Amino acid sequence: MEPDFGLGERRLVFRPLLGDGIFTQDGQAWSHSRALLRPAFFIQEQILSVIARAADDLIDQLQPGTCVDLQPLLFSFTLKTTLFMLFGSDDATFSDSKSASAFASAFDEAQDYLARRGRLGPLYWLIDGPHFRKQCAVVHKYIDDIVAKAIVTAAAPGGDKTVYTILGGLVKETTSPRILREQCLNVLLAGRDTTACLLSWAFRLLTRHPVVLDKVKDEISRTCGKSTPSRPELKRMTYLNAVLKEVLRLYPSVPVNARTAIRTTSLPVGGGADGKMPILVRKGESVGYCPYAMHRRQDIFGHDSRSFRPERWLEDGGRLAQTVGYGYLPFNAGPRTCLGQEFALLEAGYLIVRILQKHPVMDVPADEASEAIGDEIQKLTLVLAPAGGCRVQLA
Ligand code: HEM
Repeated sequence: MEPDFGLGERRLVFRPLLGDGIFTQDGQAWSHSRALLRPAFFIQEQILSVIARAADDLIDQLQPGTCVDLQPLLFSFTLKTTLFMLFGSDDATFSDSKSASAFASAFDEAQDYLARRGRLGPLYWLIDGPHFRKQCAVVHKYIDDIVAKAIVTAAAPGGDKTVYTILGGLVKETTSPRILREQCLNVLLAGRDTTACLLSWAFRLLTRHPVVLDKVKDEISRTCGKSTPSRPELKRMTYLNAVLKEVLRLYPSVPVNARTAIRTTSLPVGGGADGKMPILVRKGESVGYCPYAMHRRQDIFGHDSRSFRPERWLEDGGRLAQTVGYGYLPFNAGPRTCLGQEFALLEAGYLIVRILQKHPVMDVPADEASEAIGDEIQKLTLVLAPAGGCRVQLA
């Protein structure tokens, strides 16, 4: 059956940066992209070694006894791991830090424009101009160069054919540089900032909740000690997984979202005087939804819904997770549910374990104001980040 809702103006809003890809397409084009990309999301063993390498790069930059803002390091970590999923192991990609950082800042700026365009609805085109277009051009050039190199490497005899990369899957269908760039950029946008924000909020919350931090460290000691964690070990860390769930509850990386009616339809509740009757949605009207607000509802999560309490996910044999349904939506749900969920939780869990193994004692810096959850200044672009970064004091 044809769906009643689509992405509305998103394609036009995002087009200058992202063009056509899974994140901007609807209908047949979207199904095709999803089928093409899906195989790359079955977690391959090689991925842990890449995550490990990117984690080591980050940890090398942490000096004991200093105060450090983890946030830019976390964005660079998820950039590396997502580039690996896209293009496979490419040392040049990882080591050319100058062009990588020019790319990262252009990508950030261009995304700010996309977020502001999105907020203007049908007037999105008012936010444009040469500066925006220049940032898009820097991003395009960086990805075009990697795509060109990766195509040559993939075709070379003796190249590593054992890793299924997103680009490898795409080149079986097309060698059009523009299509390849656009599909890859869509995944990069979906994968880099979302996971970096999860990690930023996680370290902020852990340093502000030392009892939770201690429990995570205990679990690490019991499960893998000082060794690098394996995938089964990471899966077994139920407390760490509850921490990640709880971070995404309070700070869902995609805190607001919307769909637009393709035809006149209705939603089952929201109408009538008490809001319990169906409500009409006319063709072309948009329905916004806000996981950030939903995840703080007391009727779903209890009177302490604004507290950071990972235990809520473990109580009563994990009843909350079984019953919460669409009340908890960090990765969306339905046919457009996030393709990268397993990968994101794997890399986030791995990095937290490795950082805490090397730096078990970390604190909120003495000069940081203590604020209640939700009172801190937040930065909303397409994703939600702490505006003040993620500063931690290392022992
Ligand atoms: C904590 C990390 C992550 C969160 C919270 C997250 C969340 C989401 C959400 C809410 C959507 C739905 C967007 C929409 O349809 O409007 C989505 C879609 C998507 N995500 Fe993630 N994501 C995360 C990590 C990743 C990673 C690491 C990747 C890839 C490397 C990825 C790839 C995708 C893709 C390809 C889609 C589009 C699915 C489709 O439209 O069919 N995500 N994600």
